[in-house]
Amino acid sequence: MAKLNYEEILNKPNLRQAARRSKEPSKILYDDFNIPSEVVNIGVGKKYYVATYGCQANERDGETIIGILEKMGYTETSEMDDADIAILNTCAIRENAVDRVFGEIGHLKASKRKKPDSIYAICGCMVQEEVVTKKIYESCPHIDLVFGTHNIHKLPQLILDVISKKTRIIEVFSCEGEVIENAPVKRLNNLKAWVNIMYGCDKFCTYCIVPYTRGKERSRLKKDILKEVQELKDQGYMEITLLGQNVNAYGKDLKEDNGDFGELLEDVAKIGIPRVRFVTSHPWNFTDKMIETIAKYDNLMPFIHLPLQSGDDEILRRMARRYTKEEYIALYNKIRETIPGVSITTDIIVGFPNESEEAFRNTLDVVDTCHYDAAFTFIYSPREGTPAARMEDPIDMETKHRRLEELIAHINKDALARNKEYEGKVVKVLVEGSSKRNDDILTGYSESQKLVNFKGDPSSIGKIVNVKITKAKTFTIEGEQVD
Ligand code: SAH
Ligand code: SF4
Ligand code: F3S
Repeated sequence: MAKLNYEEILNKPNLRQAARRSKEPSKILYDDFNIPSEVVNIGVGKKYYVATYGCQANERDGETIIGILEKMGYTETSEMDDADIAILNTCAIRENAVDRVFGEIGHLKASKRKKPDSIYAICGCMVQEEVVTKKIYESCPHIDLVFGTHNIHKLPQLILDVISKKTRIIEVFSCEGEVIENAPVKRLNNLKAWVNIMYGCDKFCTYCIVPYTRGKERSRLKKDILKEVQELKDQGYMEITLLGQNVNAYGKDLKEDNGDFGELLEDVAKIGIPRVRFVTSHPWNFTDKMIETIAKYDNLMPFIHLPLQSGDDEILRRMARRYTKEEYIALYNKIRETIPGVSITTDIIVGFPNESEEAFRNTLDVVDTCHYDAAFTFIYSPREGTPAARMEDPIDMETKHRRLEELIAHINKDALARNKEYEGKVVKVLVEGSSKRNDDILTGYSESQKLVNFKGDPSSIGKIVNVKITKAKTFTIEGEQVD
């Protein structure tokens, strides 16, 4: 088959198309995943390697990819060089995430020389970007397959295409997307499970690539979510995390009378899994009902990730975040006052285009008012195709780095102070494992999502135990098991 120019490829990413939103509800498909008969057992005796680089949604996609490969007979290897099929499941949120993957793609070149029949694939958010897929096609001839976030469930057919057409396959759709209900999953943790409740994002924060890489906000039906949660409970899972880019938009896209996120949370809580968490909730549209429900049910964990991004009204407006500093703080305080023992974390971006020193001080001011439990902090990274990438930005990198350092110092001071409040108290910990060096040092998370290292009985792994906290550090708390 003649080699196509990149421009001639049919299904390549298109950011403008990816930004379109129709009023049509998304299709929910119950039988779209299947394995063509030609490749049903193609993986028997062969090995797969899958690496995931992104957020929780991306990790959950990785579990689908692995589920599909195992259904086709492949078994796991942790060595990229050993793999008959290697898939890099990527993230596009910041430039450094993209750079990292190009480094790995470079390493695959040598592997291909050793094992020319292996299939090397790149998928995930990164390849939904036009520049990235073009670069892979034109400069990385050892990559056999590129597929996007909308056609993961078509992987068996794509593998068949690579083998039978003996050509490189690029298939990335820049569409609104569907909800695929019957794709397999291989869960990578046997205590904690991810549960998608919705896909995509319609918020279009001006700095963010996600609405372009993941399509439109589309919810799964409540009955399908509850069925999955019930199965997880029956299988003995101790904790689930409900996933969505903005979980409080849950249900708004559905025509059926399906309920909103507050109602979903309540129904999920009633199933009785010991621990239920969710990420991420946008400060906009965070209802009182949600806060009250979390306060009411013991198995809805008192932990909220509430991204601030900036504490300056003008920057928030230019980010299209839909709230002001004052509204954010009011919501924050309401959550702290209503949910006993809650911990609240956040995301903050410094160096948004043309962020003035005063604007940055406003962010610090919110941090010093809220005293977060922890925060993820980022330097703004321009993403091609987003509105912010077209904004003028005279602020130099040195200033941005200085602000990041200053912000981190404030955040860490608060984190330590918040952790110190736990000293002398008893917290419930879901025990996940023991330290590599010492079997008696166990580790797990508290209800409020604090990482706890403690002296305890190794037979407690997999259970929820009481731990008395003796020492607080900035990122962890330490203690001893009391029963
Ligand atoms: N849907 C989630 C965010 C997912 S991305 C939410 O809205 O909360 C996770 C975080 O990455 C964001 O909260 C933001 O702080 C950061 N981020 C997103 N785009 C970025 C960019 N272009 N540069 C730097 N940080 C970014
Ligand atoms: Fe990105 Fe904003 Fe959507 Fe979060 S809510 S994924 S930051 S566009
Ligand atoms: Fe990254 Fe895509 Fe998640 S850009 S943060 S993997 S939604």
